[in-house]
This record gives sequence, C-alpha cells and structure tokens, in this order.
Amino acid sequence: MAVHKVLTGQKALVTGANSGIGQGVAIALGQAGADVVVNYIEGDDAANKVVDDIRRFGVNAYAHQADVSSEQDVAGMFKRIVQEFGAIDILINNAGLQRDAAVHDMTLAQWNKVLSVNLTGQFLCAREAAREFLRRGVVPAVSCAAGKIVCMSSVHQEIPWAGHVNYASSKGGIKLMMESLAQELAPHRIRVNAIAPGAIRTPINTSAWQTRDAYNQLMKLVPYGRIGEPADIARAAVWLASDHSDYVVGTTLFVDGGMTLYPGFSTGG
Ligand code: BGC
Repeated sequence: MAVHKVLTGQKALVTGANSGIGQGVAIALGQAGADVVVNYIEGDDAANKVVDDIRRFGVNAYAHQADVSSEQDVAGMFKRIVQEFGAIDILINNAGLQRDAAVHDMTLAQWNKVLSVNLTGQFLCAREAAREFLRRGVVPAVSCAAGKIVCMSSVHQEIPWAGHVNYASSKGGIKLMMESLAQELAPHRIRVNAIAPGAIRTPINTSAWQTRDAYNQLMKLVPYGRIGEPADIARAAVWLASDHSDYVVGTTLFVDGGMTLYPGFSTGG
C-alpha cells in the first residue's frame, strides 16, 4: 500500500541534526518525503549516518557542517541549500546546548555560549529562511505556505530552572522571538511555530535518565510516567511542517508528558 507522504517534494534544513531530537526529526522529515539537510558542528560520522538513514526513504540528503551562531556559516549554509535543492520550504531551528552552573560560578563564556547558539543561532537561521521564503513566495504545488519555521524550545520557556539560568533565558527568548516572527511573517504566508519538549531521552540530559534512581526522580516531574523519545518530538515536527497544520501560527506545542502541569500540586497545595 502506498504511504501518503505529507512532505513530498519539500526541502528541509534541520540544525543540530547529528544527534538527539534533531536526528529524530531529520529522519522523520525524510520518511515523510522531504529532502533534508543535516546540519551539525562536530561529529562527521554521526551526521553521515543520519544522511544514510534519510536516503533510505528514497529522498535526497546531505550533511553540512556549520556553526549556527556564525553569521557567515549560516549564510553559506543557506546559499548551498538553494544551489543544491533549488529552494527551502522548512527550517527546523533545533541546534541547542547546555552549559550548566550555579549562578555564582557561571562564567560569561558559559552565558554567552548558550545564548549565542540557542537564541542567536535560531535568529540567524530564521532570518536567512525568511529571506528565501519571501523571495520565492507560495508555490501551491508544494505547500499552502511560502515556508515553515519550527523553533525547538523547551518546557523551560515556562519553567524556571535553578542552575541553568543561561539555558532557561535562551528558551524564554525563543518564545517571544518565535511569536514576534510569527506575527511579522504571517501576512507573507510564512508560518512560525515552536515545540517545547519536556524530558526526552537524548545525550543532552543523560544524567536525568541513565540510572534507575535518576529516572525515578525524573518521573516525579512527568505525570504521564515515561520519558519522551526523539520520535515523540519528530511526529510533532512533521505535523507542524506540513499543510495539515496550515492554520497553526505562532503556537508552542508542548510535548512533555504533562511536565508543565505543576505535578507537585497533584497532591499538595
Ligand atoms: C533540557 C533537558 C531537561 C528537560 C526537562 C530540556 O530542555 O535540555 O536537560 O531534561 O528540558 O527538564
């Protein structure tokens, strides 16, 4: 039976796609019929493996090394996409990292690193994508929209996080950056939305799930009683990138097993 592929013919860029959520999203976009650029900053082998996994679905893919916090790298990455694929339809603004420290120990370098990759990196990629979407406009045979941007945020755009002030600030910034971009670009039929993952089993948070004790502690924060998997986020990303969500503009989709429901209050208060 032929599988209906909701992203057939679309061209996507996923930043930070060599591991974790980005990897899961990149593969799912390929499975949904999109051609995919796998951006990464280090780890050629992992990025090439993601490319191979995507190509198995009969679509095009290549890996591109670029630092999303570098204006020059981002410009070069978009130039190549247009050269190789002829267009871009979907940006998954995913690259992100943590540099955790108590505030009294946090260095300016740790603060700047997280803000420049997580927030400035998303701005630089969104700006290039917007330029390309505006230049091309809507191509009805491809999509109802001129382009789609999905920003990877976090439950920590809402939940304050002691010991992670740089990370929580970057995610709070992403929330209003995404909403402001959505408001500005909607009249051009460009849709900007975000996903706010909760605890997902990836390399960014191994200490939160690798031991039984840590996992049990984590579950106190997750009403649904299981950790999330990259595939949980990937399905949401495919939907937000597809015309199935055509009237969804400026929304943050929480995919968190209920983490933002103040689970401490299920018995207290
Ligand atoms: C962080 C993870 C954390 C999760 C839930 C994510 O944004 O990157 O380290 O486990 O939020 O707290």
